[in-house]
Amino acid sequence: MKKWGVLILSLVLLFSLAVTGCAKNDAGAGGIVKVGTDAAYPPFEKQGGDGKLTGFDIELMNAIAKAGGFEVDIQHAGWDPMLDAVKNGKLDAGISAISITDDRKKVYDFSDPYFDAKQLILVPANSSVKSLKDLKGKRIGVQTGTTGEIVVQKTFGKTYQGIKGYDDTPAAIDDLANGRVDAVVADNGVVLEYLKKLPAGKFKKVEDPSFEPEQYGIIVKKGNKELLKKINNGLKKIREDGTYKKIYEKYFGPMQ
Ligand code: ARG
Repeated sequence: MKKWGVLILSLVLLFSLAVTGCAKNDAGAGGIVKVGTDAAYPPFEKQGGDGKLTGFDIELMNAIAKAGGFEVDIQHAGWDPMLDAVKNGKLDAGISAISITDDRKKVYDFSDPYFDAKQLILVPANSSVKSLKDLKGKRIGVQTGTTGEIVVQKTFGKTYQGIKGYDDTPAAIDDLANGRVDAVVADNGVVLEYLKKLPAGKFKKVEDPSFEPEQYGIIVKKGNKELLKKINNGLKKIREDGTYKKIYEKYFGPMQ
């Protein structure tokens, strides 16, 4: 009698394991799609004191999911952890103002582009800096592993002593405000947002003609065609039905 009990119990266990196993593999194909972000990049993504994620990317991702017919769970992971987790499949997707680059395309599949961006330099208002080259010999803050870091390295070399890398962009901006770096290079949308938040008249933006246009895309694990299709479908739908425009204009004003 006891033997039967053990057998039945093992069968029940095996069965439930199989079911949860399936559910896990099903993410992006009916299950909840786990999306990571680095919620320290306003106005694209930020985390409130209550832990709630807000921002353009967050609203966009939710709208894409709704239109694309899938459910999302968006979580703050941090920049590098998010990139790693999508690479190894712990997260299904990442939305985080991620610029589409050839190097990243080798590791991830990108959705259709959803936003145009470029780099900007943020300096104190009294700075004489007029271009990236003028920052030679100065301390430049960047978020490690971002295109901001890449443009600085391209101009001054990978071993340039003046580059200070930060885990997140707000930490770089803090150091600029405290005078520990002379400039920060980051995406235009974010620099413009911080210009509104920093003490009025104390900082300014500098453009550099060498900065190339960038476009943001949503990343999925390389080869996850099914999820990519759903995301692109949703994105297409919300562009067509005006939802994209509504979200865009909430954050950035009239869309041309
Ligand atoms: N667009 C830049 C890049 O792809 C910076 C993105 C940083 N995003 C963030 N949420 N911290 O490298």
